[in-house]
Amino acid sequence: MREIIPVSLGTRSYDIHVGPDLLPRVAELIKPLARGMIAVVTDENVAALHLPGLLQSLREAGLSVGALVVPAGEASKSFAELARVCDGLLDLELDRSSLVIALGGGVIGDLAGFAAGILKRGIAVVQVPTTLLAQVDSSVGGKTGINTRHGKNLVGLFHQPRLVIADISSLQSLPARQMRAGYAEIVKYGALGDARFFAWLEQHGSEALAGDRAALSHAVAQSCRMKAAIVGRDERESGERALLNLGHTFGHALEAACGFSDRLLHGEAVAIGMVLAFRLSERLALAPAGSADRLARHLAAVGLPTQLSALAPIRTDAEELVRLMSHDKKVSAGALTFVLARGIGEAFTTQSVPHAELLAVLSTD
Ligand code: GLY
Repeated sequence: MREIIPVSLGTRSYDIHVGPDLLPRVAELIKPLARGMIAVVTDENVAALHLPGLLQSLREAGLSVGALVVPAGEASKSFAELARVCDGLLDLELDRSSLVIALGGGVIGDLAGFAAGILKRGIAVVQVPTTLLAQVDSSVGGKTGINTRHGKNLVGLFHQPRLVIADISSLQSLPARQMRAGYAEIVKYGALGDARFFAWLEQHGSEALAGDRAALSHAVAQSCRMKAAIVGRDERESGERALLNLGHTFGHALEAACGFSDRLLHGEAVAIGMVLAFRLSERLALAPAGSADRLARHLAAVGLPTQLSALAPIRTDAEELVRLMSHDKKVSAGALTFVLARGIGEAFTTQSVPHAELLAVLSTD
């Protein structure tokens, strides 16, 4: 059931392994890459579940290993924690032949990937994502970074991993709400570029979410295939990669309105944001009537929010949301880039959205 998906980036090419029971095989899979010390960076929650087993298997494979455990949660994506991780890696005497393993969700992937990217001007990193969101999105494509008081992910760099190992068995311990939030990013791939995959998700998405191994493997692998293809064509987001932001411009404003709290998880914001993007596309007569309802029906069927009213009692004044949207880092030369669609699986980017239409969509949802 294991799938190997190549990401083609010339000398920075790598494979993504997707399937069940891969964590016990990490040592075997990284051995060809391991020339020196290996440091596992993880958080305290993931450490409790997976760190002892991983360290033992790395040692049994004859590898020199160390580990750094950071506090769980978004607050670890900070300058202070980045400094602690860099110093911790230097304490472990990592050099340029060493390898960092980022074991965890998006926070760990971003933080450890960033630290590896700047340590000694760049050492190799292997991403071992343990959340659905990280498996289908953040561990692939090389984006790394931290948050500052100015916003999320505003400091970082592109540092492609040497390998990604997505063990779907590690998702068994993930809370259902986190699974659903990650699933929103899977739906995003169908909605942005693959109508057949979207139709497959309508049929089998709930099986994947319920933990059916074959369905979950397929959903994760197909998402990674789509992301790999897009990143392979546009590594630095000068064009097509921006399609991966479907639902994110709206979503970012909603997360900001909720103070980036657990009130609204990133994937939940993306779910509402995608529906808003489709509603706007219909309003502008770009997408056929019914596309937004079809998308919303599927998201709601798996328990994701699809409407602004789901945020009540948080106020979602349309003008205020537009103001929050314009603080997004995706603003370029003062203009917001929207990902809209001509239908399910046919997304495109545009900067020309009449303000009145935008306000109308945000007022009527
Ligand atoms: N998460 C969007 C990207 O990697 O480009």
